[in-house]
Amino acid sequence: MEQIKLHDKVFERYIPHAKIQETVQELAGRVYEDAGRQVPVFLVVLKGGMVFATDFAKHYPGEMILDYIRVKSYSGTRSTGQMEWLIKPSEDLQGRPVYLLEDIVDTGNTLAFMLDRLAEYNPAYVKIVSLFHKPEAYRKDIPLDFIGMKIPNKFIVGYGLDYDELGRNLKDVYQLKA
Ligand code: IMP
Ligand code: MG
Repeated sequence: MEQIKLHDKVFERYIPHAKIQETVQELAGRVYEDAGRQVPVFLVVLKGGMVFATDFAKHYPGEMILDYIRVKSYSGTRSTGQMEWLIKPSEDLQGRPVYLLEDIVDTGNTLAFMLDRLAEYNPAYVKIVSLFHKPEAYRKDIPLDFIGMKIPNKFIVGYGLDYDELGRNLKDVYQLKA
């Protein structure tokens, strides 16, 4: 299927599932090298990071702890900049290496908010692992540790990413048709 319609918008197939898998596997290897023999805590950023995190976990060759956080920050196709902590970490992060598993870093607003709040848990460090990144939209100076793919500043759906909650279950990633 090359084109799909979600709500009122049409999307075109952009990144095939196989390419995504290759990227996720490579990311898992890079993060494993970084974490060394430590047991990292992976904080899955719900809901968008869920599908990515599931595949990432399967490719991660070492011991790991999975936990979940959720920040609500987005409605429709534009970032609103307003944020709310909906699910806080449940594991003890004190002194532990923490990696955020994100679907995408766009403006960086969500990321800045999460890093600010996570500092209160006194982790050894928090590093960022994001499958996608839109450099043209990025408004922060925070260095991004592990990025799967840099993409242009266009709205995408699929593989966890949604357009008003639809499209998360698509295996491929689709881009909004101009
Ligand atoms: P940021 O705060 O602008 O960096 O946006 C972060 C969140 O917005 C991401 O975690 C996604 O949930 C969502 N988001 C940003 N860009 C897209 C997109 O192209 N498609 C779907 N969701 C997006
Ligand atoms: Mg997200």
